Amino acid sequence: MLRKLIKAVKNPQIIANVILWQGSLLGVPLYNRFHARPPLPPCGNLPELTEIYERMKRDTDISDHLPFLFATAIRQQPRLMVELGTRGGESTFVLERVAKLFGAALVSVDIDDCRNVTNWEGWRFVQSDDVAFAGQFPAYCASEGIPTPHIDLLFLDTSHLYDHTVQELAAWMPLLADKGCLVLHDTNQHRTVRRQEGRYMLSIENPGVITALQEFLGCKLDSSQDFCAVCGDWLVTHRALSNGFTVVQRLGLDSHQRR
Ligand SMILES: C[S@@+](CC[C@H](N)C(=O)[O-])C[C@H]1O[C@@H](n2cnc3c(N)ncnc32)[C@H](O)[C@@H]1O
Repeated sequence: MLRKLIKAVKNPQIIANVILWQGSLLGVPLYNRFHARPPLPPCGNLPELTEIYERMKRDTDISDHLPFLFATAIRQQPRLMVELGTRGGESTFVLERVAKLFGAALVSVDIDDCRNVTNWEGWRFVQSDDVAFAGQFPAYCASEGIPTPHIDLLFLDTSHLYDHTVQELAAWMPLLADKGCLVLHDTNQHRTVRRQEGRYMLSIENPGVITALQEFLGCKLDSSQDFCAVCGDWLVTHRALSNGFTVVQRLGLDSHQRR
């Protein structure tokens, strides 16, 4: 402890970091207290989307993205969706509603036991390391009577560690359907994160997911800004707020005649 203290006194950057961190621990909740979320916008007349907007009031690390996850998933008109990382079931809540609308299969994978996050009978939960499970996935689909192991929507929200994300992309992306899309949360993780409507939340400094994604796509991306990019045959759209939310969609341009 004393050694740490001496090291800190000798290095002004450490002191500045500590002050900044302690300041944000106090400052962020205080700031948010005076910048409450405005009323949620009208969202039309689909009950499932209304439920999702209601769910946003829980103010979790992913709540700002839930309607966008819903929109991305319904555009896929999915038959099979896979969720990697379930925890308390925020993303599961959204994907379950999409699965019910389209009669799709939803398989969620988590290393922890998350089987109680929903009581929907159609839901399939697998407690496993997701990289290990990818190799068994085609056989799993066959044993579950899922007609095809090709995934229309793959949602990735697990450890956020660089090495693990590299392995996840290598293991799961070959299972994506031709028109399938990958959705990643936490592609812009920093200690203090801007939320929707100008509020803030505390998080961690971690470029693991975006670094692994850039390497996978072979493309430089700036996750601090909203953007749309084309990397090879992939269309990438990105929301920078709330830890980042990125959608990667195969374009299939190679198989079409360009006009
Ligand atoms: C950020 S949380 C997921 C949040 C969830 N998507 C939501 O919206 O509520 C990350 C989850 O990934 C799981 N996880 C971490 N490493 C994993 C691994 N190797 N395989 C499967 N799940 C893993 C954790 O147990 C944790 O529940």
